[in-house]
Amino acid sequence: MSQALTHQQLTEIAKEFGTPTYVYHAEKIKEQYGKLTSGFSEIDAKFFFACKALTNINILKYIHSLGCGIDCSSINEVKLAIHAGIPAEKILYTSNGISFEEIEEAASHGVHINIDSLSNLEKFGKKFGSSYPVGVRLRPNILAGGNLKISTGHEKSKFGIPIEQLNALLSIVSENNIRIKALHIHTGSDIKDADIFVHGIKVLSELVPHFPDLEVIDLGGGFKVPYEISDEETDIPWIAGKLKKFLDSNVFNGRKFQLWFEPGKYMVSECGYLVTQVNVIKDNGAQTFAGVNSGLNHLIRPMFYDAYHHVVNISNQETEEKVYTITGYICETDNLANDRLLRKVREGDLLVFHNAGAYGFEMASNYNSRYRPAEVIVKDGKAQLIRKRENFEDLLSNLVEVL
Ligand code: LLP
Repeated sequence: MSQALTHQQLTEIAKEFGTPTYVYHAEKIKEQYGKLTSGFSEIDAKFFFACKALTNINILKYIHSLGCGIDCSSINEVKLAIHAGIPAEKILYTSNGISFEEIEEAASHGVHINIDSLSNLEKFGKKFGSSYPVGVRLRPNILAGGNLKISTGHEKSKFGIPIEQLNALLSIVSENNIRIKALHIHTGSDIKDADIFVHGIKVLSELVPHFPDLEVIDLGGGFKVPYEISDEETDIPWIAGKLKKFLDSNVFNGRKFQLWFEPGKYMVSECGYLVTQVNVIKDNGAQTFAGVNSGLNHLIRPMFYDAYHHVVNISNQETEEKVYTITGYICETDNLANDRLLRKVREGDLLVFHNAGAYGFEMASNYNSRYRPAEVIVKDGKAQLIRKRENFEDLLSNLVEVL
């Protein structure tokens, strides 16, 4: 059963904490994680929440308390996870384009590491040899993901070691006695075609015989959740069934592997709401704008990916509706939602953006010298502030006044 916060809860939160505010519903995260663990119950599978989607430390702690690991894409995410009290064996570090020093630092914490380039793999081998079993991120040449900007496994992608460079990879592994414990792919985000995951493991299965120390096959993230009403969620039991059948087919000659996944959106997209307030109603002759006290600085997904976020006017109970373009207050055309039929919007009304949990606050900025929003968690029916709204001092905090 899908869990949602009520308009009344969101209105009370807006009153107590102001707007714009990101609100996260803990029980919805739990529900999503439960769907993963029950869907994959017949497979030896582990989940690492891709925390780039939402790094608030309270969220990390909560997700860890559910039994889920944390997948990190930078050393600072690793440090946040450690700061949240998460043990190294529950932390996975899959990064790209980073310096070797960052990988060394991750290794000093003892976390699982996936390496994304031949050059860093070689440096890793020279330093650690066989003493630190490690994973490699491969580029499987699979086109997947909601749009090209979030598609990462294709032939022109910067991510991973291209599978056609297998021989070079194997030479580095044998010359340095590296123990490869995981093969990793992540083909994209918002993947509509669930078969991609099955295709992914098939591609990897052909490489498996080259890796005698292999323990894990990591298929990355990308499970889809609905953003538009017509969207479908990834059918987790279907994928699990297909993967089980594949694993049971003895393709690996009796070798057993744990499957790892790194869900981001699936875990937290739907738990999140961005609560905004309408500053201005403006009719330009062709359309009516509802201008909110937020913008691309808080929710960049509509402008960056043409992403759709469902919007609801939670302040007006009347049934009269009208079409609006919901726009931001940034000095750019930061339309957040186009041509939406909403309950009549008045200045001061609260407009709520759905699916704001993943890559919402996380991609926020101080553009136009605006403050980043507050964050609130609702757990057991109780709303608590988990990040203060920024203030003017924050804008000045790293500034060095020399003139
Ligand atoms: N694993 C790796 C290695 C990744 O690069 C990502 C996402 C994930 C897992 C999690 O993917 P998810 O389950 O969330 O689809 N900012 C974009 C999404 C970028 C995803 C980057 N990598 C957006 O807002 O759509």
